[in-house]
Amino acid sequence: MEIHIHRATPDDAGAISAIWEVICAERVHSAVNRPFTPEQVRQYLTSLSDREGVFVAEAGDEIVGFQSLDRWAQYTDSFDHVATVGTFVLPDWRGKGIGRRLAQHTFAFARAHGYEKLVVYVRASNARAQAFYQSLGFVPKGVLSRQVKIDGQYDDEVFMELFL
Ligand SMILES: CC(C)(COP(=O)(O)OP(=O)(O)OC[C@H]1O[C@@H](n2cnc3c(N)ncnc32)[C@H](O)[C@@H]1OP(=O)(O)O)[C@@H](O)C(=O)NCCC(=O)NCCS
Repeated sequence: MEIHIHRATPDDAGAISAIWEVICAERVHSAVNRPFTPEQVRQYLTSLSDREGVFVAEAGDEIVGFQSLDRWAQYTDSFDHVATVGTFVLPDWRGKGIGRRLAQHTFAFARAHGYEKLVVYVRASNARAQAFYQSLGFVPKGVLSRQVKIDGQYDDEVFMELFL
């Protein structure tokens, strides 16, 4: 099936929220443990600067995954060359190259908007996501202990960086 990638508009908020519902129900992948509602996603999308975005992968007319690109921080311009990303693909669509396609799109956007490096935080138990980011060129740089606590269970977080 052909995959199309586009920058999300507020009209995509419902589909993105639906993916958060699935990811959060799985419990194991993300530090986000409560799904963002369509209204929260809409507000987030409209709050993004021209240098940020959420990119969605469409298979037919279904949105099956997305990748977000956000500035690292806003309180000083000394981090303006750094962005952070997050990637979420629906279970049935994992392992089919969608994350990689999203990353090609996001990395090109990031380069075109003056970013020099990307940083991700990944739960230590999420081996697949670490393998995914490593396959894109991210390098693990360290571990934050007991950084995530969900349902009373701790998880560490690995932080990884990639120079574009
Ligand atoms: C992690 C995730 C985003 C990867 O997206 P994906 O579409 O499944 O990944 P792709 O099919 O594009 O795989 C790209 C590369 O990642 C690596 N990879 C992907 N799945 C892997 C797995 N299960 N084991 C090892 N490596 C894997 C491979 O190197 C792969 O390249 P290859 O297919 O040429 O071998 C996706 O599995 C997902 O949404 N998982 C649940 C949510 C999550 O954990 N998000 C990350 C939060 S930080």
